[in-house]
Amino acid sequence: MTRKVGVVGQGHVGETLANNLLVTGTVDELVLIDTNEKKLNANATDFEDAEANLPTYTKVVRNDYNALKDADVVVIAVGNIGVQKDNAKHDRFVELNVNSTAAKEVGTKLKEVGFNGVLVSISNPCDVIAALFQKYTGLPKNQVIGTGTLLDTARLRKAVGQALDVDPRSVTGYALGEHGNSQFAAWSQVRVLGQNITDLAAVNDDLNLDSLAEATKAGGYTVFHGKLYTNFGIAAAALRLVTAILNDANIELPCSNFREEYGTYCGYPAILGKGGVVKQLQLNLTDDEKKKLAESANYIKTRFDDTVKKLDAE
Ligand SMILES: NC(=O)c1ccc[n+]([C@@H]2O[C@H](COP(=O)([O-])OP(=O)(O)OC[C@H]3O[C@@H](n4cnc5c(N)ncnc54)[C@H](O)[C@@H]3O)[C@@H](O)[C@H]2O)c1
Repeated sequence: MTRKVGVVGQGHVGETLANNLLVTGTVDELVLIDTNEKKLNANATDFEDAEANLPTYTKVVRNDYNALKDADVVVIAVGNIGVQKDNAKHDRFVELNVNSTAAKEVGTKLKEVGFNGVLVSISNPCDVIAALFQKYTGLPKNQVIGTGTLLDTARLRKAVGQALDVDPRSVTGYALGEHGNSQFAAWSQVRVLGQNITDLAAVNDDLNLDSLAEATKAGGYTVFHGKLYTNFGIAAAALRLVTAILNDANIELPCSNFREEYGTYCGYPAILGKGGVVKQLQLNLTDDEKKKLAESANYIKTRFDDTVKKLDAE
């Protein structure tokens, strides 16, 4: 069986993910889509130029939605990162207009060609755009996820790891809620050095959880201000999700997935495999964390409902 993955959007994020998929030999067929034909063809040619020096061969298909009919995974990285340039408030919703229109257009096309694999959405505002893709593709909710707080969780693990001088992979736990300003670090879930981090913080005055939470939330913009886009961290997160789905890994990862109790997509860990979300989890959060998560989810839901009304009226 060939492993076929589509990447819609060949900007900074989409092209980095496509490169990751290619050089790691994760896919047999890579379908690249972008409205910018010139950029699309340049990337496809550049990838083909890499093939003779790679250990594995990947067929590269250009701008063909029909080729996505039998894709295992389609990743959405459409956008216009330029609109974030003067975004002093660090609000990912500045991309809502352009990306919600794209979600309706691309989602409808995927539905028309009969795509029935797993859709992984990266585009911002991530949770709302993932929810729009679920609506416009008509796919079951478990087959549509957003990268959500997987990247924020990586930033959280990095911040904790650096503070305690351990590999971030030795830190477990999550950032939950919106991939945006209402996210929060769920400290009750964070474990490192064999202990919960709140116990470590209680006896270590140098371990400031508030500043680690702030570093987690602001991490993306720290990178953004240096080069006006971010790509490596998010592409690694997306590669992890795509690999989990193709491998049918049944792995626990935080991502934006539909949570029935809040009636919305939001960042929360789930078990991921071939069908997308194959099992949901229930964390034992503190009352304060439950409140923060409900507020964050409510914010996402309200913005989603408003966006659907607007798109329906167009
Ligand atoms: N979820 C996350 O953690 C995370 C992290 C980084 C970036 N992002 C988001 O990813 C998106 C892409 O970022 P980028 O830096 O690559 O942006 P970019 O502007 O460099 O590239 C976007 C690409 O999408 C293409 N595009 C736009 N509309 C399209 C459509 N309807 N169909 C096909 N292609 C279309 C554009 O031509 C462009 O090549 C943005 O929304 C960005 O905010 C999300």
